[in-house]
Amino acid sequence: MSKENLKIYTDYIEKAGSRIDVFRAVKKEFRIKSVLYPGSYVHITPSLIFSELTYIDSDKRANKFFSQEDDILDHVVKCKEYMENPIIRFLPGDYQSPMEIRQETVDLLISDYAGFVSLHTKQYLKNGGILLAGDSHGDATLANSDPDFLFLGVLKFKKGQYRFHNKDNESYFKRYRNKSVDIDSIMKTMKGPKYSNSADYYIFLKQVGNNE
Ligand SMILES: C[S@@+](CC[C@H](N)C(=O)[O-])C[C@H]1O[C@@H](n2cnc3c(N)ncnc32)[C@H](O)[C@@H]1O
Repeated sequence: MSKENLKIYTDYIEKAGSRIDVFRAVKKEFRIKSVLYPGSYVHITPSLIFSELTYIDSDKRANKFFSQEDDILDHVVKCKEYMENPIIRFLPGDYQSPMEIRQETVDLLISDYAGFVSLHTKQYLKNGGILLAGDSHGDATLANSDPDFLFLGVLKFKKGQYRFHNKDNESYFKRYRNKSVDIDSIMKTMKGPKYSNSADYYIFLKQVGNNE
């Protein structure tokens, strides 16, 4: 990867963290091949763990970064943690508008600091696929209230690494003094509510048709 193009990514992960251990923990627990990352910016770390990635972002800097395809591929090939050849696709634009992605084809949907990804892009996720969501913008809360998603557990940082945890699922998404969760206000403010027990990442299963 050319130094200049590498810099936007390395500067970014220095500030925001690579979060590679988050993706390692997901790979350890679930069978994942194809991944969709709407609102990725230049965060290509998932390509070091998963072989088939589609990134989406509306920021011009992300578009410019991803136009250096060969440099990105070189870097991924050097640092990847799997045997297959990496496949990396970038779709510029707003993930809320129709995208060139076949419906229900993706194994993992990543939602991290990028708005309501679960709401606007769940049609691309397979039935039985996995949603990895943070709640800084309230997307995990939104998924938790969506009958198309079943809450499976959280990723907890313990003994120096993230691990999947599903032993105390009923303790999550509970507000102090049993206050209710106001989805309309989350949609307006794009901010997840404060919960009595919270996690950095929440994992959901897409399960359309199994919830009547
Ligand atoms: C705070 S950055 C987070 C980047 C990355 N997800 C991470 O966690 O490091 C949010 C990114 O989401 C993108 N974004 C937000 N809403 C979007 C939308 N509707 N369509 C496409 N990109 C969007 C922004 O352009 C920005 O690059």
